[in-house]
Amino acid sequence: MLGSTGMLGHTLRPFLDFHGYTVITHGRSNHAQHQVDITDLAEANKLLDTVKPDVVINLVGLTNVDFCETEKNKAYLTNIKAVENISAWIKNTKVSSHLIQISTDQVYDGRDLHAEDHVTLTNYYAFSKYAGELAAASVSSTIIRTNFFGLSHCEKRESLTDWLYDSLSKDKEIKVFDDIFFNPVSMDTLASIIERVVQKKPKGIFNVGSALGMSKADFAFSFADELNLSTARMLRTSSDQVTFLKTYRPKDMRMDCKRIESELGIKLPVLHDEIKRVACEYNK
Ligand SMILES: NC(=O)c1ccc[n+]([C@@H]2O[C@H](COP(=O)([O-])OP(=O)(O)OC[C@H]3O[C@@H](n4cnc5c(N)ncnc54)[C@H](OP(=O)(O)O)[C@@H]3O)[C@@H](O)[C@H]2O)c1
Repeated sequence: MLGSTGMLGHTLRPFLDFHGYTVITHGRSNHAQHQVDITDLAEANKLLDTVKPDVVINLVGLTNVDFCETEKNKAYLTNIKAVENISAWIKNTKVSSHLIQISTDQVYDGRDLHAEDHVTLTNYYAFSKYAGELAAASVSSTIIRTNFFGLSHCEKRESLTDWLYDSLSKDKEIKVFDDIFFNPVSMDTLASIIERVVQKKPKGIFNVGSALGMSKADFAFSFADELNLSTARMLRTSSDQVTFLKTYRPKDMRMDCKRIESELGIKLPVLHDEIKRVACEYNK
């Protein structure tokens, strides 16, 4: 698992361990079995030659939208070159290896539910993740476009719900956007979908999101409501009215997830139920 020391890796790795998979971990920190700069072709080849994975799950990413916009070369290396290196190894090896590439709902914008061919790129993070998808698509791969939330088990990474929980519990004033729409899944749901993908290895691009998305503001109020947290200092606003966002964010990233549902024979959960499920993680 490449990028196993990040936020999603901290949920996915124990989930796959629990389900009996042998997970070889990678990251830059010493929490991983292998510490390798995956953007370096020789290092990437050495690691993959040693491990010879049946499945490569690539969670490596530079996810800070503002940072990607100003540090384009770093975004290129992490979100594109790393995937090119993995794909080059898969093409050149005798081992039959399938790539699961985690991409993002940021590749969509504009009203309505977006099917997989409905891409609109509006910032460099989205552009770099999309280019990473093209590299992944050159080999046997499943590309998952998603967004996720839930209690982060990664000390250095805070999720959207961590931020909401911390701010609301400490009565901090926060602004939540009523003009940005999304349909994320909980990290637990995403981990279970990835596990099915490891089993079935469907080829192509698949949206993975909840049914019935909502605005980020409604999401925040709904989460607060589930935990009986005061919303007195939580203000609804439009993303155009704040100065702290340096880079344009898509206004509507809601995904049509029929393709993955039909491929795996599943029904994705409703977002409100996912919020309830995640709220329980903070109540423990
Ligand atoms: N977070 C979200 O809400 C979100 C939403 C949609 C899609 N995604 C996608 O989901 C994936 C996982 O996201 P995440 O939030 O778990 O990311 P994250 O917490 O930032 O973790 C990124 C991982 O990549 C590793 N990494 C970064 N640069 C590297 C390099 N040059 N060489 C080796 N390892 C490197 C990091 O290692 P260290 O820990 O050692 O630094 C870490 O393990 C990403 O591809 C992201 O684009 C995320």
